Amino acid sequence: MFVTAAEQVCPGSRSCTKDGQGRLSSAAYAGPVSSEHISAASSPGWKWDPSLYAGTARFYSVGRVAYPAELVDLLVTALELDGSGRLLDVGCGPGSLTLLLAPNFAQAFGIDPDAGMLSEAARLAAETGVSNVTWRQLRAEELPADLAPVRLVAFAQSFHWMDRRRVARTVRGMLTDDGAVVHVHATTHQGVDSGAELPYPRPPHARIAELVQRYLGPDRRAGKGVLTAGTPDGEDTIYRAAGLTGPQRLEVPERIIDRTVDQVAAGVYSLSSAAPHLFADRLEQFDADLRQLLASSARDGWFSEEFPSIAMDIWR
Ligand SMILES: C[S@@+](CC[C@H](N)C(=O)[O-])C[C@H]1O[C@@H](n2cnc3c(N)ncnc32)[C@H](O)[C@@H]1O
Repeated sequence: MFVTAAEQVCPGSRSCTKDGQGRLSSAAYAGPVSSEHISAASSPGWKWDPSLYAGTARFYSVGRVAYPAELVDLLVTALELDGSGRLLDVGCGPGSLTLLLAPNFAQAFGIDPDAGMLSEAARLAAETGVSNVTWRQLRAEELPADLAPVRLVAFAQSFHWMDRRRVARTVRGMLTDDGAVVHVHATTHQGVDSGAELPYPRPPHARIAELVQRYLGPDRRAGKGVLTAGTPDGEDTIYRAAGLTGPQRLEVPERIIDRTVDQVAAGVYSLSSAAPHLFADRLEQFDADLRQLLASSARDGWFSEEFPSIAMDIWR
C-alpha cells in the first residue's frame, strides 16, 4: 500500500487549510492511496501497477524526440518566469521536460513512480549540468507530499495515467497565488504523415504496430493489464472541476526530424504498450524481427518524421 505523503503536510487530518501560502485547502487531501487505486479509469477493470514503464527509461531518452527550446521560451514569457519559485514536474519520466524548465526556477522537483526513470533523469541532470532538481519516487496520488508551494506544476504526457480528479484538486491546492498548471499535449515517440516529401523514408509505424500485436495480442497492454478503451481524454473538464481556470493555449510548430534505426527501435521500447518486460522470453526474437523490419524500410539507416505541433494548456 502507498502511504499518502499528504500526511506530512496535514498530519492525520482532512481539515488542513494552509501551507503557508494560503492555497492548500481540504480538497488537497483526498484520503490514502492504495496500490489498487484506479487511475486511467476509461478502461474497465484496468488497474495501475508499478510495472507500467518498467525497463523503458534507457530507451525513453534515446527513442523519444526532445522537447524544443521554443517550448521553454513560450512558457517563460507567458508565465513571466524569473528564476524564482518551485517547479513540480509530475510523471517526469527521465526528466525530458524537467531539465529544460528547471533553470527558470530556484528549485525543481521531478516526481515519478518508476525508479528507472528517476535514475536516468539524475544521470541526464549530471550530464547536462542541471543541479537544482530533486528527483522523488512518488505517484501523483501521493501529492502534496512536502512539495508545496509550487509556482508551476507540469503534466507532460502523464496526466492520463493518474487519478485525474484527485490529482488536479491536490495540485491546485499546492499552487502559489501566481502559480499555474501546464498540460503538455505532445507525441514524442512517432510522427504523423501529412504526405509531405521528407529527406528519408518514414518509419513503418503501421507494420511496427502489427508486429507488436503479433507478439503481445490485439489489446493494448499497460503494466499487468490491458487498456481495452485506451487512455482517457477530456482533461479540460477535470481541471475546471478542480477550480482551475483557462486554458491559455500556447503552441510550438511542427518539426521534421531525422532519426536512426536505433532511435526508432528505442521509441518502440519506450512505450508502456511495448515495454521490454512484456515480451518476456520472446524479447530477443521480437527485437530481431523489429530490427529487420526497420533496416529494410530505412535508407542508409535513417528515417524522417514529421512531429506535430505541441500544444500547452496553461491553467491558473
Ligand atoms: C509518457 S511518460 C512522460 C514522461 C515525461 N513527462 C515526458 O514528457 O517525456 C509518462 C510518465 O508518467 C509516469 N506515471 C505513470 N503513472 C503515474 C502516476 N500515477 N503518478 C505519477 N507519474 C506517473 C510514468 O512512470 C512515466 O514516467
